[in-house]
Amino acid sequence: MKGKFITVEGIEGVGKSTNIEFIHQQLLAAGKDVVVTREPGGTPLGEAIRGLLLDPAYTGMDSTCELQLMFAARAQHLAQVIWPALDRGQWVLCDRFTDATYAYQGGGRGIDTGIIARLEDLVQGDFRPDMTLLLDVPVEVGLSRAGKRGELDRFEQEQVEFFERGRQAYLDMAQTYHGRYRIIDASRPLTEVQSQLQSLISLFMHDYTG
Ligand code: TMP
Repeated sequence: MKGKFITVEGIEGVGKSTNIEFIHQQLLAAGKDVVVTREPGGTPLGEAIRGLLLDPAYTGMDSTCELQLMFAARAQHLAQVIWPALDRGQWVLCDRFTDATYAYQGGGRGIDTGIIARLEDLVQGDFRPDMTLLLDVPVEVGLSRAGKRGELDRFEQEQVEFFERGRQAYLDMAQTYHGRYRIIDASRPLTEVQSQLQSLISLFMHDYTG
């Protein structure tokens, strides 16, 4: 594949939207043709699945049902958006990807990571992100930011412990996959976070495109 696949991860309230917009602008300024997308979602079918996943009406959804809906949306997203864009040489900047499944359905819900890995292989083969930017904040900070946004979705209604397990799963993945992971302390002022993002992105572009 000619393009590069960059994912942005983190628990609720880490500032993903603002920082994704910043990263997008950095890539555009460097002359990249960029597709910005998100999970769950990114296609009409995936967005419909997202509606089901986030709707508080489905509180109590079986965790393996949730897991399979995540991968169902992802399969469509890969086939319809991500792989065609990368093949065309575009860069894809994705708000969450499979690491969110390891964090939330694995860490948060306690689903065995071996089961997640089997679905990952089924849906993606050996396709993985080229770089994953983990925006990290303590859970209390993230939840208090997210709580100010109004009505809570089905995930935002979870207890602190759920997000603690999710955050830990992300930090563990950052150790295991240190080659592609970059951890950003997103509890610092936005200007500092963005200057770190800026250097990480230019380093990445230098390493991969010379
Ligand atoms: P968002 O609010 O960042 O758009 O993400 C929607 C929610 O979906 C968020 O609470 C995290 C959750 N999620 C999972 O539980 N597993 C996944 O694989 C993905 C992509 C998201």
